[in-house]
Amino acid sequence: MCRFHGSLNPAGSQIITNLIQIVYASQPFGFDEPTLAGILLDARRCKKRDNVTGALVCRHDLYLQLLEGPEVPVRATYARILQDDRHAGVRELLNRRIQSRFFANWAMLHDPVKTWIWTEGEIADAELDRAEPAEIIKIFRDLSDRSGKPAMH
Ligand SMILES: Cc1cc2nc3c(=O)[nH]c(=O)nc-3n(C[C@H](O)[C@H](O)[C@H](O)COP(=O)(O)O)c2cc1C
Repeated sequence: MCRFHGSLNPAGSQIITNLIQIVYASQPFGFDEPTLAGILLDARRCKKRDNVTGALVCRHDLYLQLLEGPEVPVRATYARILQDDRHAGVRELLNRRIQSRFFANWAMLHDPVKTWIWTEGEIADAELDRAEPAEIIKIFRDLSDRSGKPAMH
């Protein structure tokens, strides 16, 4: 099966990738282990079907998710997520074209939020919504660096 989602530059053979990343934040609704397990199951199915990868940072007061892959399935995944009643207040923080993925070998890296990210008070204060794109990218870049050896999860 061909997994290539790029195209050729009309001027030559240079590859133009069609990969994008979307990052959004939301507030969990009914945050517990079974809910999280269900979400991760959806994400794994999505990886298999659409080749969408990413990472989900989660805490009882926050979902922060990066989705990446070919533009059409990533946008379709995000559209489904927007409709999901397991969270509320979904807002897009980043949407950009990329040359390569951060989480190529993960369906959805699941990371319970750590102290390096914002405190509960800061989240309640909408600190995340004021973050610069570079700051958002750095969170996931660091997570990708820390995620160690490639693994299928
Ligand atoms: C925080 C959160 C993250 C999610 N992440 C994904 C994901 O990465 N991929 C995915 O296919 N569905 C994800 N889902 C689930 C989708 O919203 C949706 O339920 C699922 O894709 C099945 O959609 P369908 O029933 O319309 O086929 C997520 C849901 C939530 C609440």
